[in-house]
Amino acid sequence: MAILVTGGAGYIGSHTLIELYKAGLESVVYDNLSNASKESLKRVAQIIGQEITFVEGDIRNKEQLRELFSNYSIDGVIHFAGLKAVAESVQKPLEYYDNNVVGTLRLLEVMGEFDCKSIIFSSSATVYGEPNKMPIREEFPTGNGITNPYGRSKYMIEEILKDLSKSDSSWKIVILRYFNPIGAHESGLIGEDPNGIPNNLMPYISQVAIGKLNELQVFGDDYPTVDGTGVRDYIHVVDLANAHVKALEYLQKQTVMPEPLIVNVGRGQGYSVLELIRAFEKVSGVKVPYRIVGRREGDVAISYADATLAKKKLDWVARYDIEKMCADSWNWQKKNPNGYETS
Ligand code: NAD
Ligand code: UD1
Repeated sequence: MAILVTGGAGYIGSHTLIELYKAGLESVVYDNLSNASKESLKRVAQIIGQEITFVEGDIRNKEQLRELFSNYSIDGVIHFAGLKAVAESVQKPLEYYDNNVVGTLRLLEVMGEFDCKSIIFSSSATVYGEPNKMPIREEFPTGNGITNPYGRSKYMIEEILKDLSKSDSSWKIVILRYFNPIGAHESGLIGEDPNGIPNNLMPYISQVAIGKLNELQVFGDDYPTVDGTGVRDYIHVVDLANAHVKALEYLQKQTVMPEPLIVNVGRGQGYSVLELIRAFEKVSGVKVPYRIVGRREGDVAISYADATLAKKKLDWVARYDIEKMCADSWNWQKKNPNGYETS
């Protein structure tokens, strides 16, 4: 029996493969390599000392999916595959809805055909829009004030999963709402490899530190936060990966589930942009030049999780602090200045 990992060659997927291996679970990666290369899987193999089973394919292609489910005995699915660039989603909404929403529908249909009804879905704190209270709890309303098609695609998929669950309680579904994953495996062999100029804060900081970019632009210093810059709940990608193993263990214990289990995956602690820069400078010993500019459209001031449900339901807690996140991001960046392209 194996776990199907869609999008397993990507940033979070590749780290999850290691955690699955450590838990003694077999995995099969299914990825169309639209935002990844096979190099990440080679590196994972190097870390665990075992080849990764890989099938190249698209989640929107039912024939390919049927072949996959016929060739492997799939016990459950961790569904990472999707497009995730917020600004691009505003430019190409149909591509995002097709890839993320239609892709997930096709996957669920084929899972149903093969009576494989356990799935863990990668959602995002973005589904909460701009909550007026912190920390964010899972029962807070979702779907309002989402500023882009990427975020709306996550919200739509969550709603589809809830409806599916209602229609048939033999579906066992966990929705994980990720906060801000950063960091890398401590070997420095795998990490986040964004295309072009990064949109997200940590890869941008690392590329400034390594000298590929001149300075960081800090988007706004007039938010109602500790120092005026945006506050986020950063979480080490290895901790996040581990939450998937815990979610699988939870699913294995359930016989029927009347509704999906929805869980925040964050540390429950917010850090401002300037605090993250300072933590990075401290562990790397490298100065990160920055300039304050105007706010970025669509940004919220503060976002951090109430992480107590993850502890209660999944027995999961984050182990790594902000300094470890910075140290591991920096280690990956130093060893791979051009990401996976270097080798
Ligand atoms: P990633 O882009 O590194 O990984 C996604 C993988 O999916 C890539 O390897 C890509 O090639 C593959 N893929 C995309 N479309 C596909 C398709 N149609 N068929 C098959 N494979 C396809 O992204 P990530 O950071 O690892 O994120 C994984 C998941 O977590 C995504 O669904 C993302 O939206 C979600 N998420 C990420 C973050 C974050 O900050 N990284 C935050 C919240 C949620
Ligand atoms: C963004 C997305 C979110 C997505 C997540 C992971 C938006 C509005 N939200 O979250 O939907 O799930 O990425 O892909 O894009 N910052 C700077 N300078 C930079 C980059 C970022 O100051 O060059 C600031 C931002 O204003 C924010 C913080 O750093 O306060 C974190 O930004 P980022 O890493 O992009 O994550 P989010 O905006 O939380």
